[in-house]
Amino acid sequence: MAQARRFPGMKGRVQGKKALITGAAQGIGAATARLLAMEGAQVLLTDIDADAVRAQADAINAETGATCAFAARLDVTSEADWLPAMTAANETMGGLSILVNNAGIVLPGSIEDFDLDRWRRGMTVNVDSVFLGCKYALPLLREKQPASIVNLSSIAGLIASGNFANYNASKAAVWLLSKSIALDCARKGWDIRCNSVHPTFINTPILNDLVGEGRDPDSVKVKLLSQIPVGRFGEPEEVAQAILYLASDESRFVTGSELKIDGGISAM
Ligand code: NAI
Repeated sequence: MAQARRFPGMKGRVQGKKALITGAAQGIGAATARLLAMEGAQVLLTDIDADAVRAQADAINAETGATCAFAARLDVTSEADWLPAMTAANETMGGLSILVNNAGIVLPGSIEDFDLDRWRRGMTVNVDSVFLGCKYALPLLREKQPASIVNLSSIAGLIASGNFANYNASKAAVWLLSKSIALDCARKGWDIRCNSVHPTFINTPILNDLVGEGRDPDSVKVKLLSQIPVGRFGEPEEVAQAILYLASDESRFVTGSELKIDGGISAM
């Protein structure tokens, strides 16, 4: 299969790896897929939005000058979608050595703002997705060791806020689920690592979802910004760099850990 050509400054840090990224149609997922491809991986971009994720894969292929990016529709909440996604990984890339469980949503609100259906929606997209992804990917990852799973939690999985009951709970679940998977793989003697990343506010469309009904987006963003010690939102590429490290063999002794990309918020 064609490999992406090397780019100036790129070192092939994941050369030969085979990565599936969920929620890759935009934001952090799209930036991660692009960076992994630039560093030598084959990438299968998946998303619930089939057209948008196809366009992202096409853009990566055009930029790298190789057929290193593939696309597939995958609703991470649907168990029936996961097996075909694994088949797609086998057919397009010849297996899987990196899984990035990135797809996620923010449903703002305090505990009193949720009914059970909305609560379950947030938990399904953010937590069931990671459970399903890891469960279905592990058999393929075992065939391509050393392998790595990177799960998108959030700084909100470590620090709570009265208005993010569901997001706090779901991202905290991703944090400890990642550790459990890491320990299970280590105990079984598999060279499959599992870590979580914890960004604070990153400049992607999800920021608009943080605003909540009836609130002024600009004033909410000013308030969010005031919480970040370095005084700016992060960029998707800055999270992608952390994911690249955890996905690559450079982090081969790192498992069950959490990497914060938070402009200093959690230092306070
Ligand atoms: P985004 O909203 O820009 O992109 C999310 C992607 O996930 C979209 O392409 C969407 O179509 C896809 N998606 C949503 N539901 C899906 C489903 N059921 N199945 C498959 N795909 C689905 O979000 P962003 O900012 O790129 O976030 C990515 C991850 O990073 C999420 O897990 C989010 O919680 C986490 N995160 C984001 C932060 C931020 O400020 N942007 C901060 C901390 C964590």
